[in-house]
Amino acid sequence: MTQYSRITGTGSYLPPKRVTNEDLAAQLAADGIETSDQWIVERTGIRARHFAEPDVTSSDLALHAARGALEAAGRKPSDIDLIIVATSTPDMVFPSSAAILQHKLGIAGCPAFDVQAVCSGFVYALTVADAMIRTGSASKALVVGAEVFSRILDFKDRTTCVLFGDGAGAVVLEASDTPGILATDLHADGKHVGILCVPGSVSGGKVLGDPLLKMDGQAVFKLAVGVLEQSARATLEKAGRTEADIDWLIPHQANLRIMQGTAKKLKLPLEKLVVTVDQHGNTSAASIPLALDAAVRKGQVRKGDTVLLEGVGGGFTWGAVLLDF
Ligand code: ACO
Repeated sequence: MTQYSRITGTGSYLPPKRVTNEDLAAQLAADGIETSDQWIVERTGIRARHFAEPDVTSSDLALHAARGALEAAGRKPSDIDLIIVATSTPDMVFPSSAAILQHKLGIAGCPAFDVQAVCSGFVYALTVADAMIRTGSASKALVVGAEVFSRILDFKDRTTCVLFGDGAGAVVLEASDTPGILATDLHADGKHVGILCVPGSVSGGKVLGDPLLKMDGQAVFKLAVGVLEQSARATLEKAGRTEADIDWLIPHQANLRIMQGTAKKLKLPLEKLVVTVDQHGNTSAASIPLALDAAVRKGQVRKGDTVLLEGVGGGFTWGAVLLDF
């Protein structure tokens, strides 16, 4: 019998410190940097984001989200035989945040590794977990997106620091006789490294280069709108489905205008678009599982609904996962 994979539980976590646009504008004003709630809302749709305290790591946020997903799936940590964490803000250079999360969950032995594809990280991680389940390498995977982007923000650069936030989302993905994940589509094009990057590195005990986020917002915007439509269409075609089959579109939550533009190109009514960017900001690899969990807990996404997840981000990377929930 063909083996498929299916999401059996979702969870998410936001650190308690909520920072509104007004709070951030006041903080930046103290350094002579001007921004406003109106500018941020009009250009991005963002109204607030959450920031982790300095001693809180991605694996700490991941642990809360993972516990929520395990509880929703009715599983114990010891049931899990694969852990993948998508993050660009890992706890350490090494080992992986996934290995650290495994230990925090009180388990040992199963494979655990990080995936680094920036804001496409969760769709990359879900695709890898799906492939490992289909080939029999795993049967119950914990797939997490977790970020502390506040650590790599330049609070002197108003064009980027207003956009991002911290958080984590997780799913339990299990082997199933019925799909589940219907089709996946992943891409990268490294020639665009420079338009969105954190160009620093660690060498000889020092940070070389600049360890803070740099972005050419307009170049990212243009690329994102095009590839999100292409990837959606490619994924639907692989699954033998059409736009009309989509119950919920959950794109990476970076900018409301990009998300609405994608829905429009796919001729989806905006009621089918899950939006959390207004309250979370851009949480990079965490944004899709955070939005999925919010939609599940609100009773929007229900069992059997067809959901299109779409990621796009630094690399440049992009991709999509179409699934029956
Ligand atoms: N507050 C007030 N004014 C600002 C701010 C701010 N926070 N930031 C920029 N401005 C000013 C600029 O200085 C500029 O002023 P000027 O006209 O006097 O020069 C003006 O606003 C317009 O700036 P633009 O950069 O042209 O603004 P734009 O409409 O392009 O919006 C934005 C910028 C929101 C970043 C947009 O380009 C965007 O959303 N791009 C996509 C970003 C994205 O999705 N990134 C995440 C990718 S995922 C990942 O991998 C991390």
